Amino acid sequence: MLMHEEIPLSLYVHIPWCQKKCPYCDFNSHTIETNLPEARYVESLIKDLEWDKKLSQGRKINTIFFGGGTPSVFSSKSIGRIIAAIDNLIGISPNAEITIEANPGSTDKKKYGDFFSVGINRISIGAQSFQSKHLDSLGRIHSNKDAKDAIKAATKAGFNNINIDLMHGLPNQDIREAKEDLKIAIDTGAKHISWYQLTIEPNTEFHSKPPTLPHTDELADIYDNGMTLLSNQGFEQYEVSAFTSDKKPSLHNLNYWSFGDYIGIGAGAHGKITTREGDIVRTLKSKMPNSYMERRDKNPRNKKSVPQDELITEFMMNALRLKNGVPWTYFESRTGISQSVISERVINLQNQGLLESSMEQLRTSDLGYRFLNSILERF
Ligand SMILES: C[S@@+](CC[C@H](N)C(=O)[O-])C[C@H]1O[C@@H](n2cnc3c(N)ncnc32)[C@H](O)[C@@H]1O
Ligand code: SF4
Repeated sequence: MLMHEEIPLSLYVHIPWCQKKCPYCDFNSHTIETNLPEARYVESLIKDLEWDKKLSQGRKINTIFFGGGTPSVFSSKSIGRIIAAIDNLIGISPNAEITIEANPGSTDKKKYGDFFSVGINRISIGAQSFQSKHLDSLGRIHSNKDAKDAIKAATKAGFNNINIDLMHGLPNQDIREAKEDLKIAIDTGAKHISWYQLTIEPNTEFHSKPPTLPHTDELADIYDNGMTLLSNQGFEQYEVSAFTSDKKPSLHNLNYWSFGDYIGIGAGAHGKITTREGDIVRTLKSKMPNSYMERRDKNPRNKKSVPQDELITEFMMNALRLKNGVPWTYFESRTGISQSVISERVINLQNQGLLESSMEQLRTSDLGYRFLNSILERF
């Protein structure tokens, strides 16, 4: 029987607007047309949280993540109001990690200090690149200088837990340029870098009008050179795209990857919850901002139990993304499924040298990490 009270709880808050939609992005984000319905959306979020309050079942929230979209388009007053409502309705653990995503082009840098004073203690800055021609080709609204200024402003505002989002494999990018972006990010003093390879997603402008991307072998060279640079500069990879130089991983993402529980509020947000009865359920909110806000007086939540085979796949997809994996005990304690159900597959993968044979820790070998997708296909 799953013991829900032993499973850590996080909260995700989705803010679905951006100043301008980027051509590569398939997140649930929409260009701000005329007026941002900020006050109405905040009311809807609080209503949503009132419904989901019971999912916490006595647990406090350990991490909060304001994601988007671009949550930093909201005022610090609104963000502070949401944090206060979370604390009132559910309760926030002391020293909880509270992150906000910020786009250097759409945030008045003075706001950073205000975000800090309403309780945000980690900021994730979407720099993407520090080179004008790449920022242009990505359709970003900020300049190279804006990105650097945003990082300086965050430091000045008091943040000592800063993440920089960078992408690589950009249209016509070469190895030198990709390394230069990493060097600049490292030189800012930020202790966390998320380094994503640009992917062309369906339903994006880049999908209908594909840009010229580097060839496969160039992409591999960019990746290998970037990994060497990060490692030489003391940045440890702890997840496929996440690197930290100061043992400052994203605690919020670690909870997802370790198959912890999370409540998701906001348009299109999903949650994963272990119930008192030992069942694991998924929740999903209306995707479009208007329909989400219109439903604010009714329960906006769709809820469904997760079948056993999906639970196994999801657990493995999350846990094995972590370089060090997770304790083996998490498999039973967080899915409710006996380890014996997967033991034959695990032994086969261990015999092939793709999974470590440790009895304590479920993790890939170095070889297995390079072929993560082939391992995941077995689950
Ligand atoms: C929700 S967005 C971040 C915050 C903010 N809206 C911004 O763009 O500055 C999360 C991150 O995902 C990454 N991302 C988005 N679309 C991507 C794609 N198609 N391929 C690779 N990374 C992508 C970007 O690095 C982006 O900063
Ligand atoms: S990448 Fe960020 S700013 Fe661009 S559309 Fe997506 S969420 Fe908005």
